[in-house]
Amino acid sequence: MSLHTTQKLKLHHPETFQFDSIPDSHAWLDLHEHPSVESIGPDTIPVIDLNDPKLMEKIGEEWGVFIISNHGIEPEVLNRLCSQMHRLFALPEEVKLKVAKAEGTDAGYGGGAISHLFSKFSWSEGFSIVGSPVDHAQKLWPDNYSSFCEVIEEYNKATKSLGCRLIHAILLSLGFSEEELYQIPIGGSSKIKTVMNLNSYPACSNPDQVLGFPPHTDSACVTIVYQNGSGLQVLRRKDDIAPTRWVIVPAVPNTFVVNIGDLMHVLSNGRFHNVVHRVTISKTNRLSCAYFIGPQDDVKLRPLSELAGWEQSPLYRPVTWPGLLKIRSKLNDRALQAIKIDS
Ligand code: SIN
Ligand code: FE2
Repeated sequence: MSLHTTQKLKLHHPETFQFDSIPDSHAWLDLHEHPSVESIGPDTIPVIDLNDPKLMEKIGEEWGVFIISNHGIEPEVLNRLCSQMHRLFALPEEVKLKVAKAEGTDAGYGGGAISHLFSKFSWSEGFSIVGSPVDHAQKLWPDNYSSFCEVIEEYNKATKSLGCRLIHAILLSLGFSEEELYQIPIGGSSKIKTVMNLNSYPACSNPDQVLGFPPHTDSACVTIVYQNGSGLQVLRRKDDIAPTRWVIVPAVPNTFVVNIGDLMHVLSNGRFHNVVHRVTISKTNRLSCAYFIGPQDDVKLRPLSELAGWEQSPLYRPVTWPGLLKIRSKLNDRALQAIKIDS
């Protein structure tokens, strides 16, 4: 692990977050700084009933984010996830560092994949799970790791099947038939890859000076976010009602937030909007679980234009999920420009 990574991880731990004033490493000078962002609100994030997803395409196009109700996941599953997250993040720093993300790997304890692109540190710590958490959990709780793994597995199973339902609903809203879904590289549970990010955002006495996550888009097709309190904000583009603005995503009990990511934007040939979002901090702790869904690593996603018979020719070249992540790690929010087909 490089010194830089170690320093970042150390600073991520809540115990070291008890500062009298915010250290320069974490102080974002102007949180409202973003091209032409003038205000918060006045919108309300749309809610989609998964049993009745008819507005999916319109909302995906306009917003790139929505809240889902009627998702079928029991509140007890979410409560169990939350208590295991509390247990994880309450471990002493030296224990969590045993499972620190190694350079170039996706799983383990540490910050977000694009955190190195920002000059300031985030006011958060995270734990990423790709596949099974068992090896990591054994190192964290040698005598008692199975409850963590069981809860993560239960959540993984439930959220994966919800993710498949969601992706099918999106593809149907784009005009595909049930039969055609299985020709699409993410149509079906055996075809998708999932990554789970557990996030903890410690309380801060000066929340206006820090950020839990700086503005970014997600690379995945969709992200299903569970949150136990508010903090997530999405960038809403200028429209007839108001200029570009940050909109607060409320934490509605027993719902999930769905963010449309870069790969769904590519797949839908630009129809679904890959929403820019950020996480703000408050005077209370917040936990979230971001569940990313995309194609298997070796699958090249391309706009579905030909398959769907859309008039507009493909806007993007085919790209794999790891390929896009590699471009993002260098270019951040200009990554999609790099795979754009010149018109
Ligand atoms: C993220 O953008 O991945 C974090 C989402 C959240 O904590 O709400
Ligand atoms: Fe995100």
